[in-house]
Amino acid sequence: MINIREETVEFLEIEGRKTLKGVVHVSGAKNAALPLMAATLLTDEAIILNNIPYLLDVFTMKSLLEHIGIEVTELEKGKFLFRFSEVNSLEAPYELVSKMRASILVLGAMLARFHQAKVALPGGCSIGTRPVDFHLTALKKMGAQIKVEHGYIYAKAPDGLKGTVIEFPKKTVTGTENIMMAASIAEGKTVLKNAAKEPEVVDLANMLKKMGAQIEGEGTDTIVITGVKRLKGTEHTIIPDRIEAGTFAVLSALFDGNIIIENYPYQYLKYVHNILEKIGVTMVQVGRNSFVAKRLKTLYPAKIETREYPFFPTDLQAQFMTLLSVVEGVSTIRENIFENRFMHVPELRRLGANIKINNRTAVISGVKKLTGAPVKATDLRASAAMVIAGLIAEGTTRIYNIYHLDRGYEDIDSKLRTLGAEVSRGVE
Ligand code: EPZ
Repeated sequence: MINIREETVEFLEIEGRKTLKGVVHVSGAKNAALPLMAATLLTDEAIILNNIPYLLDVFTMKSLLEHIGIEVTELEKGKFLFRFSEVNSLEAPYELVSKMRASILVLGAMLARFHQAKVALPGGCSIGTRPVDFHLTALKKMGAQIKVEHGYIYAKAPDGLKGTVIEFPKKTVTGTENIMMAASIAEGKTVLKNAAKEPEVVDLANMLKKMGAQIEGEGTDTIVITGVKRLKGTEHTIIPDRIEAGTFAVLSALFDGNIIIENYPYQYLKYVHNILEKIGVTMVQVGRNSFVAKRLKTLYPAKIETREYPFFPTDLQAQFMTLLSVVEGVSTIRENIFENRFMHVPELRRLGANIKINNRTAVISGVKKLTGAPVKATDLRASAAMVIAGLIAEGTTRIYNIYHLDRGYEDIDSKLRTLGAEVSRGVE
């Protein structure tokens, strides 16, 4: 007799087509918080981080840092003190890394500071194989001895890391961040060519410079880091999350601009605004950092290509696909960054969307309306696309695998309820 273990499955249930109206606040950027937290390994002095978002990934990184030897204390909501006490472990274990691939961000800092690290190889995820070969090749060039076996990266640099010239074959966000951290206390100068230019990379450079690092060129294709002996403590406030902000811009556009977005990082979304303008949506400033999406009566189809910053971000691809699925006409979205980031397409089809995939391009023929159905979240950002779809669909939508959503969106249920959404969680 085979006992099929009944797994309890959590879901988010949404009653669609409620009138949403009100104010949402953009939280601190997840993809800035994670490298900034990893950077606390680079000094034995205290670091205070403000505007930390309460996300699963952030608490996984907190557990990883505590496992290694950093004391983490919550001083008040969103404000945490990080202080290195002593090395408990030089291993980032599989049970933590498997929950969050960005755990790879501790590798560079541990190697540079402790000259040794054992980090579980991050698995792939639903959007792609997500290799880390660029990170390892670069660290080897800086003098690290690295071997990968039994699912672990074994790295050591008995004489410390040495600065050198590194050129990434493709722009890599966490690769750039990993090497920037390692190079900040390596010996000599490191030139990082074909570096990622995301605002989160610049935010990390800004904090490292406050800690005494010598970094130039952050935000451009070439970053030059001159290693220093040691870094000191500092206090830093994390930038707003441009992906959460872009997600809310889509929501505001779909709800006739009745949603005001506070703490909106307008300057990080220029290319996204270009696309919104083509669709017939303008982000209008209504307060110091508050914006609202003003839209034309009729929206227009669009042609989107995801590329590295400052162009259209892959992390907003799914959310825009939901928007375009109810815009009359034929839109196309080409996903150039990840090889498998269309897992939300079959789920949107279940809600009535008309989308075809040709290799890396999705062809979306707008439909009049979506209708509610049980669907599943397939990755962190696609889960937000399904929430938006549920909010505009007629009837009830249940989204399973909802842990994806909690990894990237702080208090999403309460933020949506504040707007008048009928959202509840359940377990089956
Ligand atoms: C970062 O992932 C983000 N995560 C991702 O956000 C984001 O989608 C991605 O950048 C692209 O913008 C964090 O910052 C924590 P990459 P990362 O290295 O650094 C290939 C989210 O939703 N590549 O820039 O892992 C890779 O396969 C997440 O918050 C290699 O081949 O992405 C991809 O095709 C999802 N070898 C491309 O480069 C490597 O060693 C860009 O990846 C590294 C990357």
